[in-house]
Amino acid sequence: MITGAGKGIGKAIALDFAKMSGKQAEFDPVLILVSRTLADLESVAAECRSFGAATDLFQADIADKAQTDRLVNSTLERYGTIDCLVNNAGVGRFKPLAELTEEDFDSTMSVNLKGTFFLTQRVFAIMEEKRSGHIFFITSIASETAFKSSSLYCMSKFGQKGLVEAMRLYAKTCNVRITNVMPGAVYTPMWGEVPDAMKSLMMMPEDVSLPLVNAYFMPQRTSVEELVLRPVGGDLKE
Ligand SMILES: NC(=O)c1ccc[n+]([C@@H]2O[C@H](COP(=O)([O-])OP(=O)(O)OC[C@H]3O[C@@H](n4cnc5c(N)ncnc54)[C@H](OP(=O)(O)O)[C@@H]3O)[C@@H](O)[C@H]2O)c1
Repeated sequence: MITGAGKGIGKAIALDFAKMSGKQAEFDPVLILVSRTLADLESVAAECRSFGAATDLFQADIADKAQTDRLVNSTLERYGTIDCLVNNAGVGRFKPLAELTEEDFDSTMSVNLKGTFFLTQRVFAIMEEKRSGHIFFITSIASETAFKSSSLYCMSKFGQKGLVEAMRLYAKTCNVRITNVMPGAVYTPMWGEVPDAMKSLMMMPEDVSLPLVNAYFMPQRTSVEELVLRPVGGDLKE
């Protein structure tokens, strides 16, 4: 199950898993793609299926707990379990401190914190019971480094990192792997229009998806706990 699979990093993760379908031993998954925009999901699902991967899609707003509950319940009814969750859906409002509004606050926290928490809570319970599973969190370099125009975003990403660390305490007792993926700047729709000079300083979505998929295929005895990925020239300023 990949949240935010309609665009950007989530789309690249879906495509890279799809490419491995049937090629890696005992890997013949159903990919569950989740986001709010149906047209994006249909387009990514078609691409995944073109690589031979069984793919289903689910239009849901993860900020709404009733919708994440429906997402998990429907997945269990259709497929019986969830083996891997990629908590990728996230939003950012990048503005100077004084310009941030209550709506910016609520929107950022409801997706990045509330949505990530309640989906993880439901899916982890399934993995805990069967004593296997892998949960990825796409947090950010901004989960440990502050950027001036990202105060709310940093607050939410530092918070996600807190959840990752708490989840590890539960996961290690029941054979569940937790991977915190911390990318620096990646060229995706999240950034809107980007000048070419800036784009040349950024990573591309597949630079994140490839190491993530490789971490999934590590032997079950090994948990890749963190992936820190930066543009070779370092972080973009502020
Ligand atoms: N791009 C970067 O530089 C960068 C760096 C570090 C970390 N990250 C993190 O990586 C993740 C993906 O970022 P991205 O750059 O790929 O963003 P993106 O291009 O804006 O794509 C975000 C995806 O998440 C979905 N989404 C957003 N809110 C959602 C919600 N409430 N419920 C369900 N789906 C939702 C979006 O679809 P809909 O809007 O249609 O729902 C979209 O498919 C985020 O958590 C972000 O914080 C990004």
